[in-house]
Amino acid sequence: MIQYDGTHQVFKLDTPHTSYVFGLADGRYPGHIYYGKRLGDIDLAYLLRTDERPWPPSVFSREKVSFFDFYPMEYPFEGTGDCRECCINIRTEEGQEGLELTYLSHRIYAGKKELEGLPATWSRGSAHNLPAADRSSSGDGRLEEIADCSTLELTLQDEVTGLRVILSYTAFEEADAITRSVRVENGGVRSVYLTKVLSACLHVEQEGLEVLTLPGSWSRERMMQRQKLGYGSFVTESIRGISSHQDHPFMALISENCTQTTGDIYAMNFVYSGNFIAKAMRDQFDQVRVVMGIHPDRFCWKLEPSAAFQAPEVVLVYSDGGLGKMTRSFHRLYRDHLIRGYWKDRERPILINNWEATYFDFNTEKLLEIARESAKAGIEMLVVDDGWFGYRDNDDSSLGDWQVNENKLPGGFGYLAEEVNKLGMKLGIWVEPEMISEDSDLYREHPDWALQLNNRGPGQCRAQYVLDLSRKEVRDTVYDRLKAVLSSANIEYVKWDMNRPLSDVGNTILPPDRQGEIAHRYMLAVYEMQERLLQDFPGLLLENCASGGGRFDPGMLYYSPQIWCSDDTDAMERLAIQEGTQLLYPLSSIGAHVSDCPNHMTGRSVPLETRGTVALAGTFGYELDITRLSEEDKCQISEQIELYKKYNSLIREGDYYRLESWQHNHVCDGYMIVSEDRSEALLTYVQVLAKTNQKSRRLQLQGLNPEAFYDIDGKTCQGAVLMYAGLLIPPMSGDFQAKLIPIRQIQKFKPV
Ligand code: DGJ
Repeated sequence: MIQYDGTHQVFKLDTPHTSYVFGLADGRYPGHIYYGKRLGDIDLAYLLRTDERPWPPSVFSREKVSFFDFYPMEYPFEGTGDCRECCINIRTEEGQEGLELTYLSHRIYAGKKELEGLPATWSRGSAHNLPAADRSSSGDGRLEEIADCSTLELTLQDEVTGLRVILSYTAFEEADAITRSVRVENGGVRSVYLTKVLSACLHVEQEGLEVLTLPGSWSRERMMQRQKLGYGSFVTESIRGISSHQDHPFMALISENCTQTTGDIYAMNFVYSGNFIAKAMRDQFDQVRVVMGIHPDRFCWKLEPSAAFQAPEVVLVYSDGGLGKMTRSFHRLYRDHLIRGYWKDRERPILINNWEATYFDFNTEKLLEIARESAKAGIEMLVVDDGWFGYRDNDDSSLGDWQVNENKLPGGFGYLAEEVNKLGMKLGIWVEPEMISEDSDLYREHPDWALQLNNRGPGQCRAQYVLDLSRKEVRDTVYDRLKAVLSSANIEYVKWDMNRPLSDVGNTILPPDRQGEIAHRYMLAVYEMQERLLQDFPGLLLENCASGGGRFDPGMLYYSPQIWCSDDTDAMERLAIQEGTQLLYPLSSIGAHVSDCPNHMTGRSVPLETRGTVALAGTFGYELDITRLSEEDKCQISEQIELYKKYNSLIREGDYYRLESWQHNHVCDGYMIVSEDRSEALLTYVQVLAKTNQKSRRLQLQGLNPEAFYDIDGKTCQGAVLMYAGLLIPPMSGDFQAKLIPIRQIQKFKPV
């Protein structure tokens, strides 16, 4: 719900457990007042801090410049006094920087609009939860708006340039989350250059705050990091053209006592997959400001008169119940209001991917051998990974030449799909549409199609260049090739990979004053291509990937309901990677596979049962040569598949509770998934290293109904006992041991 109190000029956005409040100073400047626990409808205008004393003692009230440098502006602007990190800056044709935004108007409405060309959360009942193909068949106009959110659009203006800035705030009821985005329109008569347009800003007045981020690396994505926020700034950012392995478009301010179940959290997550910045700063007055948006470095967008720029969305979540409560808000929002399409709420097919089984060395016969054994075990889909096209036998060639290599796959995917379908399985394929190899026909024909700086040529990474998808003819050509392959056979799944960051971001097509637009135009092009794919193949299951989890972000989730989490498939390494990923993203979106042993990356041998248990907390599949496994292992795979079938709806839809963290305690990992009605739960416990002479571990369960009785390991226990007193898990023999403990309600509490 969103309200405006015209008397006091205060806006208030409520979700079931939170309130977000800001007011207008002097009827002109929107200033932040409060974000936190839900409040009643009281007047909070007194908290706006408009009467604070000035710093030069010689004057009695703050003059404009010192006011701007102090005031918690909702959308701070640069160049006219505020010397903290601001959200927006412009350069005029005269080369001058700076602007001043004041209130012009606002409107409040039910539901939420689409963000043109960008991924974004959507309102229930609105059209944009459907890929466009489904929309036209149901007709946009006929779709009832049964909105479960409301939106405030606040329009600000810069009187000198005629620029209008529309801040959109949406309050999502069930998910307890707020989203923000920004649109800039040039209502003036001259062009301006947007040199910075961030999407959101938040001010928090609380002492002792820490910053939580998710830095990492290739094969070590999203490691949780907390550090104290002192004076100055803390930044997490990417200028790699992708959200990246190294940093994650997420930042949260957390109280220093914060745990899984206690403490305050103010979290921001960016619905975008390219360059970003998130910056928290504590200023001279102990005020903390956090901003998030497209990275201003290497960004400059020319806005001609009447033109508009849409900046992506930021999701805000406040939790007064620690990290777990924050996680469940993000999961709910992303499951119900971001992921779309046919596979959104459906059980995903259990796949086997040939990458770690064969790498580039495969042919139809080898793939069919894998498929036959997989079908016997109950696996449902074969995915042909890298190496099926051009003459690619290693990673040196053929990207861009999206024609099947008939030497490896005679009869193409048509024959393979028929044979695989006869086994009762689906067929899926890997592609990397954003790239071009120097050794490819496409590059020989169009060397200028690679992103490059004049007179420098493109730079290689993994022996490949990045295609300049900002050019329409480039993305159309690649898309048409991809479409032809997908139309040639019954291909029901695509793994869309992206194996290197952007560099040399330039071309000879755009004029000099538009070169700073290329990185964002590139991202818009990727989104456009994926949207086309979903339109043309509505039942297709799309899985995004970027050298593992280099582009695992809410932007990509809008297009693909699942994303490959990491190239590191070692189950023990995955514990930390999955913990960081699950902090924000629902388990149904996390690509997790059982791979070979010893693991190809770490050389570690983990029991098959444990590998299966860890992969169950994701989309589940296999990435090994099943034809080389023992009969005993294949039987175990069948048992794992039964488990997946039994628990997948709970894992996909249930609430997630983290009990133990291997990356922090160095002993064990543990988490629970609990059904919405709390009648069923699944507890996963992993003992990483065995130790001698250890006591049993006492786990305090979470999320159960304290009054209900549950069956757990053949014993009957009350929810309150399991949650407050706990459960003893005896030490297991051997390293890397896992236990799955189902918990089922057997009796409801009946008051006497
Ligand atoms: C990187 C992906 O993460 C892997 O799973 C695999 O598909 C390779 N690329 C293929 O080149």
